Amino acid sequence: MQTTTETTLYKDLILNSKGYFGEYGGMFIPEVIRPNMEALTATFEACKNDESFIAELQEAYRTFSGRPTPLTPLHNLSKELGGAQIFLKREGLNHTGAHKINHCLGQVLLAKKQGKKRIIAETGAGQHGYATAAVCARYGMECIVYMGKKDYERQRPNVFWMETLGAKVIPVMDGSQTLNDAVIAAFKDLITHPEESHYLLGSAVGPHPFPLLNTYFQKIVGEEIKEQILNQLGQLPDKCLACVGGGSNALGMFFEFLDDEKVELIGVEAGGKSHLSGEHAAKINYGKKGIFEGYYSYFLQDDDGNIEPTHSVSAGLDYCGVSPILAYLYDNKRVQFTNASDTNTLNAVKKLAETEGIILALESAHALSYAIEIAPTLDKDKVIVVNGSGRGEKDLFITMSHFQKDSLDTFMRNHLGDE
Ligand SMILES: Cc1ncc(COP(=O)(O)O)c(C=O)c1O
Repeated sequence: MQTTTETTLYKDLILNSKGYFGEYGGMFIPEVIRPNMEALTATFEACKNDESFIAELQEAYRTFSGRPTPLTPLHNLSKELGGAQIFLKREGLNHTGAHKINHCLGQVLLAKKQGKKRIIAETGAGQHGYATAAVCARYGMECIVYMGKKDYERQRPNVFWMETLGAKVIPVMDGSQTLNDAVIAAFKDLITHPEESHYLLGSAVGPHPFPLLNTYFQKIVGEEIKEQILNQLGQLPDKCLACVGGGSNALGMFFEFLDDEKVELIGVEAGGKSHLSGEHAAKINYGKKGIFEGYYSYFLQDDDGNIEPTHSVSAGLDYCGVSPILAYLYDNKRVQFTNASDTNTLNAVKKLAETEGIILALESAHALSYAIEIAPTLDKDKVIVVNGSGRGEKDLFITMSHFQKDSLDTFMRNHLGDE
């Protein structure tokens, strides 16, 4: 990919990339799965401008997932904060509760084109696994989901739903038992069953072509936001805010605005408990460049290049790497990054519930927390859009243990006593 200049059209550069975004990206993989990645790239390149493929995808977005999702003005919250107007893109109203279904539908259609019948996936919060299990049930595919044991336990409701949808969920006991251990387990599975399997990778990370194709399948989010905000206000937003785990919801939101220079794009990482190693998951804020899981980007690693443990109150942000596309956009100063702490995030969930009647996923609440911080400092005619990447019911046990620990403990005791 060429170097960016003032006049670069980022959308074209990204969509026409051969796998590198500036110095980031690439395909650092074992030779045994190179044919899979090359065949997937070729299928994607053939489909991305194919009208019948796009029509099938749009139909699935509309009739299976429930798109378009609304753009909700947060009148009460904005009034209380006394500054900018805040809008929430309601990706949590998608089928299965998050934006993840957008790239699951896209990838399953690509797998179908390739004649694959077996889908492998990894999941952190469970949202990507849940969405994968749903699309596999609908398109008649076998589904195997890897999940770090820590996530398997803290996101138990999603495990139950994945199993109900017919998926086999395998807890991964290695490493920190979170998302990157699940990614490694999924790659090992692909290496063992390359012919019949498609690895439905769940974010804009991993080797080429995953960052590109998940950005492509998520860009519907920003396209809808642009149309909706122009209809509602007749102007573009001043700032777009999205949480960043691997980067799929952020890129989905940002992509459509990349060439609108006046729209500020801000990624909010997981600030966790502190900026100390092992207590957060803020890769761009605190990470270093390196190669891991097939791609070159920013990772949380020590001076010897060993991946460090991560922490976030939200399982979906608890990952050590970040999209090479976001790394590139950060270096080119097109996307800025900040982070939100666990405590501020939990408080943002409560504040939104009380003022607007919406329960937001902990992941997305990182972005909302930053909106709550900056809105009072901005004039009333400024517009902030937050990507509400998911709904928060899945986080019941974590959120309740923070706000009503005693009643959760009593509930668990009574419930277990009934068994
Ligand atoms: C609701 C929700 N938002 C955000 C994320 C983070 O992923 P990404 O950065 O790829 O959007 C997750 C991951 O599971 C999620 O479930």
